[in-house]
Amino acid sequence: MIKLINLTKVYRGFRAVDGINLEIGKGRIFGFLGPNGAGKTTTIRMMAGVLSPTEGQIIINDMDLAKDPSNVKQCVGFIPDRPFVYEKLAGTEFLHFVAGLYHLDHTQSLNHRISELLELFELGQWGEELIESYSHGMKQRLVMCAALLHEPEVLIVDEPMVGLDPKGARLVKNIFKEQAHEGTTVFMSTHSLEVAEEVCEEIAIIQTGRIIAKGTASVLRRQAGVDGNLEQVFLKLTEGKGLAHARPLSSH
Ligand SMILES: Nc1ncnc2c1ncn2[C@@H]1O[C@H](COP(=O)(O)OP(=O)(O)OP(=O)(O)O)[C@@H](O)[C@H]1O
Ligand SMILES: [Mg+2]
Repeated sequence: MIKLINLTKVYRGFRAVDGINLEIGKGRIFGFLGPNGAGKTTTIRMMAGVLSPTEGQIIINDMDLAKDPSNVKQCVGFIPDRPFVYEKLAGTEFLHFVAGLYHLDHTQSLNHRISELLELFELGQWGEELIESYSHGMKQRLVMCAALLHEPEVLIVDEPMVGLDPKGARLVKNIFKEQAHEGTTVFMSTHSLEVAEEVCEEIAIIQTGRIIAKGTASVLRRQAGVDGNLEQVFLKLTEGKGLAHARPLSSH
């Protein structure tokens, strides 16, 4: 369960995220859409606890992130938009390092979990290879293994499909669906309206830091007065407001 209450981030007077309120139920896959510069990554980074909000609250599984950061982080898996890995480690070494950050014991069951995840993400042959020899999409999948290592109840994911080939994207979509089926809540930003349409049960559109629409795809269709695909709905709902919001701070 995720609840964002009046969540706000101000950068030198500029309201990148401007009082957003959202509630996402357990086991749901929630799509967070919006134009470039709308505030998606800023929101997600606050939810993952890597950026402090200026105002507002983030409640995850009934815990307030500001008051109980370590317990909240234990139940969250975060996949950032740019995968961060230690290139000089082998895949399994990196996963053991991440396991240490989550205080997971280095037992047989951890080794088993690591091989299971590597297999799941089709990296089974690559565990002992240095990460520097992985392609971008492989690094992306390794970071996903790392985010799932501690069996999080909430997954917070920023543009997971970028850099994945169609097979990798299919794999990841299926994994997210399985995770949600097992009760994990998935909060995912994406520019792929196809992905959103296929996997997200509910969607919010953020523009200029504010939520301009939320609900199921059919609710959004009704709001936009468009009977087409999600791309047409998105374009209609966000039309008229371009990148004016996202100008350099020096020109404010
Ligand atoms: N560290 C920062 N300092 C100042 N402004 C920032 C900072 N990080 C982001 N911004 C601004 O905040 C706004 C929201 O950026 P954010 O990265 O959250 O957008 P986004 O919705 O993730 O966009 P994209 O689709 O391009 O990934 C933008 O106008 C951006 O210029
Ligand atoms: Mg972003």
